[in-house]
Amino acid sequence: MNPYPVFEVDQVTYQAAQNHSKQVDEWLGFNYIDLEKQLRLSEISKIHQTWSELSPQSFQTPYCELRSLLVELGLKKNDHIIDLGSAYSRLAFVIGRHHPELKFTGFEVSNMRVIETLKRLKNWQYKNVQVFHQDLLDEDFQLPEAQAYFIYDFGHNQGIQKILQNLKHIAKKQPLQVIARGRASRHFIFNENPWLTIHPPSNFEHYTIFKST
Ligand SMILES: C[S@@+](CC[C@H](N)C(=O)[O-])C[C@H]1O[C@@H](n2cnc3c(N)ncnc32)[C@H](O)[C@@H]1O
Repeated sequence: MNPYPVFEVDQVTYQAAQNHSKQVDEWLGFNYIDLEKQLRLSEISKIHQTWSELSPQSFQTPYCELRSLLVELGLKKNDHIIDLGSAYSRLAFVIGRHHPELKFTGFEVSNMRVIETLKRLKNWQYKNVQVFHQDLLDEDFQLPEAQAYFIYDFGHNQGIQKILQNLKHIAKKQPLQVIARGRASRHFIFNENPWLTIHPPSNFEHYTIFKST
């Protein structure tokens, strides 16, 4: 009855968290085996890093980790969190169910993944979540202002560097948090974005939470 539980970090192995997420995907009705095969061979995967050569359990964050991460962020009512490269937008399902007080937006470059996500979200009618087909690196794209941004190594290095520059501009107007998952995002924050490391970052096994000054 509770598909997105909060687990104590040392209670579950990463393998168990991934197996649990696979069952939740099935329970939600996700059907991505053929879709991922198609995506692997598509033009979009030649241009963008869609990670379609990996399994969805590898390129996505386990649901229970997302649930814990939201506890750590301590966002306030009406705060907005954006997933930069949201794949099947797992955060939308967790926030829809457990955080009606927050607003969520997911941006994803693969339209096939977005269409499949929107089909699954339709069953829940969450009013506070939105998912868009969007190339984050499109010159005409303006990144919305939000209180928290989730980056799990969404693209090639230059893409991650560019988005961090965009966040730096937004942080001049308002404080924000960045949750970085994966090696590249954390590397570029620690090495090129000192504005995010003045406050001591909070390190967790798979992600780090940074606060702007
Ligand atoms: C490693 S996955 C992370 C998925 C999700 N954030 C999670 O943690 O479960 C990164 C996602 O970013 C997407 N992506 C890559 N380049 C992108 C771009 N330029 N614009 C938007 N999404 C992009 C990929 O297709 C992939 O679905």
